[in-house]
Amino acid sequence: MSNYAKVENALTGSPGSSIKLRGWIHRKFHVGKKIFIWLRDSTGYIQCVLEEEKVGKEAFDSFERARRESSVEVEGVLKEDSRAPGGKELEVVSGRVVGYSEDFPIKGGEGVEFLLDNRHLWLRSTQLNAVMKIKHTIIKLLRDYYINDGWYETTPPILTSSAVEGGATLFKVDYFGEPVFLSQSAQFYLEVLIFSLEKVFSITPSFRAERSRTRRHLSEYYHFEVEAAWMDMEELMKVTERSIEYVVQGVLEERQRELEILKRNVESLRKVKAPFPRITYTEAIEILQRNGVSISWGEDYGADEEAILTRSFELPFFVTFFPRSIKPFYMKLSESDERVVKGFDLLAPEGYGEIIGGSQREDNYDILLSRIQEQGYDPKDYYWYLDLRRFGSVPHSGYGLGIERITMWVAGLEHIRDAIPFPRFRDRTKP
Ligand code: 4AD
Ligand code: MG
Repeated sequence: MSNYAKVENALTGSPGSSIKLRGWIHRKFHVGKKIFIWLRDSTGYIQCVLEEEKVGKEAFDSFERARRESSVEVEGVLKEDSRAPGGKELEVVSGRVVGYSEDFPIKGGEGVEFLLDNRHLWLRSTQLNAVMKIKHTIIKLLRDYYINDGWYETTPPILTSSAVEGGATLFKVDYFGEPVFLSQSAQFYLEVLIFSLEKVFSITPSFRAERSRTRRHLSEYYHFEVEAAWMDMEELMKVTERSIEYVVQGVLEERQRELEILKRNVESLRKVKAPFPRITYTEAIEILQRNGVSISWGEDYGADEEAILTRSFELPFFVTFFPRSIKPFYMKLSESDERVVKGFDLLAPEGYGEIIGGSQREDNYDILLSRIQEQGYDPKDYYWYLDLRRFGSVPHSGYGLGIERITMWVAGLEHIRDAIPFPRFRDRTKP
């Protein structure tokens, strides 16, 4: 089973060499008495030619019957052919159909809902293949960066008993008759773990009951979250920008081909080098007002306003020090101005907007207790979170990065649904 090559290696192999390949028929056409197929595997496409005299009647007939997306094995000789995609062609000497395909429902030009219903088949497309590879590389590079910098990967739970990001977007689950929630963020558990491991991160699904379908919201997404003891907001922002530079530059290096397939403008990605620009929330409001947005200090803003802000920057940029009333209770109040918190968002350029939300955490027991009450929560639900401030509290900070958000930006996607194999949003839980 193992002496099969991959298409990408075949395309760089020397002419005349014998090679075995397996994959799926992406396209098939007849020219005279020859059958041409474009064989697809996980790595790419190669043209294969079959002639009855070479492969025998039985094999030839079976390939004749095989429709698009049938799975096949072929053995043949590599030929230079400038007309073939990739410049190489496999002259088949033997082959067999492994699994016949019925008439494949995706033929091109179908609408979004049809493609979502057939997501299990659409995932074979060149575009989604490229996005999934880019996402894989982003996750790998995030892990690389943080592990090499001394952070521990940890595994927090998904079923939780308390809200991190407020009650409005919680999914409730029946847990042996008791109500629990699907996690919105691993943050509070990571805050527990820093008292043992100091610098931690996790990659988990997070859930948000988002009411509306937008181009950047999922109800289930993958969340990369970091948390570090002995780290203030300023220091964490430096780690953040260095790691984002590392990821983007790494994708440019390792996923050139996929970025090309997606027609991503890589010039804007090349510019992604730390340090990133920083503006305060107050400055962001001023920029918005200058651009004709009617918004005043103290109000929250969303995707449309963020898109306007991104016009002023070529790089990802930080927005910092938000009003305390629009941010969660756990964010530390600024020492110099108690109306604002030591929180930051990282916004991606080119209209993409928020990809990261982070902050320094409130580490004082009394202030945290009053902030929990101020926002109308029951301190009893947060006894264990409050305990962390009773037993050797330390200054600490952390952030959450939406993995589909960064994938969407780096891959240059129109819509977040294409950054995840099986998107979940309102009215969509299949396949
Ligand atoms: O800004 P958020 O809500 O922050 C938190 O959850 C913090 N507790 C994280 C932390 O400090 N550990 O979410 C963090 C990021 C956002 O910046 C965004 O990238 C992503 O999670 N995100 C979503 N991605 C897709 N669909 C959604 N509905 C998302 N909501 C948030
Ligand atoms: Mg946020």
